[in-house]
Amino acid sequence: MRVPTVDYRGEETDCDRGDVLRDVLLAAGLSPHNGTADALNCRGHGSCGTCAVAVEGAVSDPTRRERLRLATPPHDGDSPLRLACQTRVLGDVTVEKFPGFWGQHVDDDSLGDDSLNDDSLDNDPLDDGESTADDRGSTADDGESTANDHDSGSAVD
Ligand code: FES
Repeated sequence: MRVPTVDYRGEETDCDRGDVLRDVLLAAGLSPHNGTADALNCRGHGSCGTCAVAVEGAVSDPTRRERLRLATPPHDGDSPLRLACQTRVLGDVTVEKFPGFWGQHVDDDSLGDDSLNDDSLDNDPLDDGESTADDRGSTADDGESTANDHDSGSAVD
């Protein structure tokens, strides 16, 4: 009997029928998370929502926990996403990750896999998306280091 194949970000990975999608991806060195969510996630407990992906193919039905999490913002209960940590692979599947800390920007299909490293993505949950002078630091700094750049008291100590 042929084993299921998971197709994600241009890579194909075999797995056993019934394996958890998130586990399959991580075992293959792939992540269902974007940016800092790679480290800041619930480790597969179905509570953070950062492993949300679009899945095409044979998978298990959504669990109650999964439906609840995906109905909670920033996710939208009407979105086609699945939580990789709650989804079991039952046959060949194709997986797609969308931009955003939670991978919630399903409407932004203009971005490819390379865009996941794009600084314009809101991978920072504390970033409101507005750029301010504070975000960029001082614009008065010309990149040259001077004695006045260091606030350590006298330069002739
Ligand atoms: S890893 Fe947190 S919901 Fe899946």
